Amino acid sequence: MVAILGFSKDQIAAAVQAMYGDVAKDPGQYFHFPIGRPAALAVGYPKSLLDQVPEAAVDRFVGVGYPFRADAIEPGDTVLDIGSGAGTDTLLASRKVGSGGKVFALDLTPEMVAQLKKTLREAGIKNVEPIEANAEEIPLPEQSVDVVTSNGVLNLVLDKRKACAEIFRVLRPTGWVQIADIVIAKPVPVGGRSDPKLWAECVVGASIDEDYLNLFREAGFEDIEVLRSFDYFAESPSADTRRIAAGLGARTIELRMRRGVEEKAPVPWWNRFARRLHPRRLRLIGERGLWGAVSACVSLVACYGTLGLLGILSLFGIGMALPEAAWAGFIVAAALIAVIATGFNLRLHRQPAPLFLTGLGAGMLAYAMFVNYSFAVEITGFVVLFTGIVFDLYKIYETQCLPKASG
Ligand SMILES: C[S@@+](CC[C@H](N)C(=O)[O-])C[C@H]1O[C@@H](n2cnc3c(N)ncnc32)[C@H](O)[C@@H]1O
Repeated sequence: MVAILGFSKDQIAAAVQAMYGDVAKDPGQYFHFPIGRPAALAVGYPKSLLDQVPEAAVDRFVGVGYPFRADAIEPGDTVLDIGSGAGTDTLLASRKVGSGGKVFALDLTPEMVAQLKKTLREAGIKNVEPIEANAEEIPLPEQSVDVVTSNGVLNLVLDKRKACAEIFRVLRPTGWVQIADIVIAKPVPVGGRSDPKLWAECVVGASIDEDYLNLFREAGFEDIEVLRSFDYFAESPSADTRRIAAGLGARTIELRMRRGVEEKAPVPWWNRFARRLHPRRLRLIGERGLWGAVSACVSLVACYGTLGLLGILSLFGIGMALPEAAWAGFIVAAALIAVIATGFNLRLHRQPAPLFLTGLGAGMLAYAMFVNYSFAVEITGFVVLFTGIVFDLYKIYETQCLPKASG
């Protein structure tokens, strides 16, 4: 199941730290993503700017775009570089803010932070403060920075909503955000997130473009402008990475936006849920082969959720009579939709066993509901139905799972 649903927060953090620890320690080794001066030139950094940054930082550049296109930083500003890495952007920001300003360089990977400290020492730069921390919990006070800059980082962060809320919290009202990051056009298939290394390579952790922009809108950012969008992975040295990225429609976007003056009331969960029901989302559920799982869950909740609700209401002296035939009909209809959905998924994996199991489970439910009620048959029906659903998801995972990138 872990392989189907993805992997844990700790596994992602470990993969990200291992990958970018390697970049910090030995940037000369082979990586699946573009790195160093050629990578910076390819995403749009002017050569004259790169010449102003110590080589130790530029050699370890692994950004995905050119966030300075937004031109948001002024002399004297306090800037926060989130996911600063070895510090190319940090050092450019340090020159822009000058001796009257300050740059906080925050990164999760200890080796990156150590490398930046070394570069700062050697170059005698005093207006930069490296911070080893997670973008989801920024150790800075409220409204303490004028500009947030970030390059290729949010796609790596597991809780992007939390990171956006943190950016909003530390930024002063009307302060600017300049970001370059990876977005995707299509959802990652079931199981596609089962390789933490692909997440660390900025591929499968990325959000769908519209969801990404909504994260910022919902956090209270305004005047969001997409300044540029391009195929970053075209420059990847790995054919597998290029193919996987092309399959997902992965690309870089460079953004500029402002923090609104008023803190926005958090969007309630049901509102966020309703937004997810728009037709494009519903089509995505189909593309991932998830309608079977959705319908089976609806059937289960309709059965035991309703029972639980009736039980709770009765504790308060509220008795409700349900039209039992309609209730049972709904439960069985949802189970049958799950069977039909697994039937459709046959085209994805050509393995009939999941369809057989979901059909058997739905049949047992129908028998228990309409022919001869027995709790044992009912519960066994649900178990068989869900076994079929999990088997179906596993088969989709096997067929759609992204191959491990290999040179
Ligand atoms: C693709 S690299 C970009 C580095 C740098 N911005 C540059 O342009 O070279 C992503 C960086 O973000 C850091 N990172 C990843 N997840 C993070 C998180 N949750 N919080 C803070 N930093 C994170 C990584 O350690 C890595 O240094």
